Amino acid sequence: MYEMKPEYLTGIDFIDQEHARLFELAQETQDLLDDSVLLDKSDQIVELVSELVNYTRSHFAHEEEYQKSIQYPYITQHAAQHRQFESKLSEIDLDALSDFEQQNETVEDILDFLVDWLINHILRVDMKLVK
Ligand SMILES: [Fe+2]
Ligand SMILES: [Fe+2]
Repeated sequence: MYEMKPEYLTGIDFIDQEHARLFELAQETQDLLDDSVLLDKSDQIVELVSELVNYTRSHFAHEEEYQKSIQYPYITQHAAQHRQFESKLSEIDLDALSDFEQQNETVEDILDFLVDWLINHILRVDMKLVK
């Protein structure tokens, strides 16, 4: 179960809302994987994962804009983490996700990895914005 939790809240509204949307997208993808009635979910899965990836990127951009606006002193280090993660995201091969046999496992791995990174980043790095 992927979900926003109270301990992930930074208190900065737009950041919290975007984090919540990321968890929502992750859960929507998981729900789709778990749906045993729907036979061909390739297109929807590819769409959701790519939305998750794109939303992550745009979230990073918003966060960095905000950091600039408050002249946050650690923006370079913070942004470097975002860039590093983006380069991992760019390695995700969306075409491979449409392979029906491999699909569930591959998508679950991606989700696990993505959400794990986000939670760690939220707790250890985003949180420093307000502490
Ligand atoms: Fe964030
Ligand atoms: Fe961040």
